[in-house]
Amino acid sequence: MTSRTIIAPSVLSSDFSRLGDEVEAVMRAGADWIHLDVMDGHFVPNITFGPAIIKSIRNRTKAVFDCHLMIAPTDQYLCAFADAGCDIITIHAEAGPHLDRSLQAIKALGKKAGVSLNPSTSESVVEYVLDRLDLVLLMTVNPGFGGQSFIPAVVDKVKRIKALVGSRRIDIEVDGGITPETARLVTAAGANVLVAGSAIFKDNLEENYRANIQAIRSAADTSHG
Ligand code: DX5
Ligand code: ZN
Repeated sequence: MTSRTIIAPSVLSSDFSRLGDEVEAVMRAGADWIHLDVMDGHFVPNITFGPAIIKSIRNRTKAVFDCHLMIAPTDQYLCAFADAGCDIITIHAEAGPHLDRSLQAIKALGKKAGVSLNPSTSESVVEYVLDRLDLVLLMTVNPGFGGQSFIPAVVDKVKRIKALVGSRRIDIEVDGGITPETARLVTAAGANVLVAGSAIFKDNLEENYRANIQAIRSAADTSHG
């Protein structure tokens, strides 16, 4: 059976000293997309990597590069992330005052556009930009760090976003604290893309990546109604 759920490992929990090898390893282990967490130490209280690092691993896989920008402002950096080889560029609704303009800028670069919402942000902020979106990313932790606990209140927001999206072809992605147990809850509510960092890269034992991915995928696929 073909899986209905897209699994996007977050390299935030990978061994950064071997980033390219880690990307190849999770792809060999059955991942679908590579999730790239870009943090600026301003919008979120942590700093990770930028376009140069992304570009340096672009030739390691043909997989979709799913870029989650936790930076503010965003607009002046979009071109650099597009040039680095990101396929989906997701910005935070909270990162700037002109969400519609930023989404238009991403589309103008020929990339898929996503919007991410912090746990406390209402789904209503996407209502008037739905027709510009390829993806909605709902944070199930406060962005900034891997390994945090899933915030259950967001499950209801997944359902509300699913209803807002209706028949549009928009992916609903969930990020933060995803394990087989929480994967079940969010996919039952309507999510079809699951980001997981620590649950996949835990202990950086490559021999476990396949089983770690499969455990999340099986839990997700059995929860679809
Ligand atoms: C958090 C990041 C997540 C993070 C998820 O700000 O956006 O992608 O890596 O990590 P886990 O799966 O460990 O919660
Ligand atoms: Zn992320």
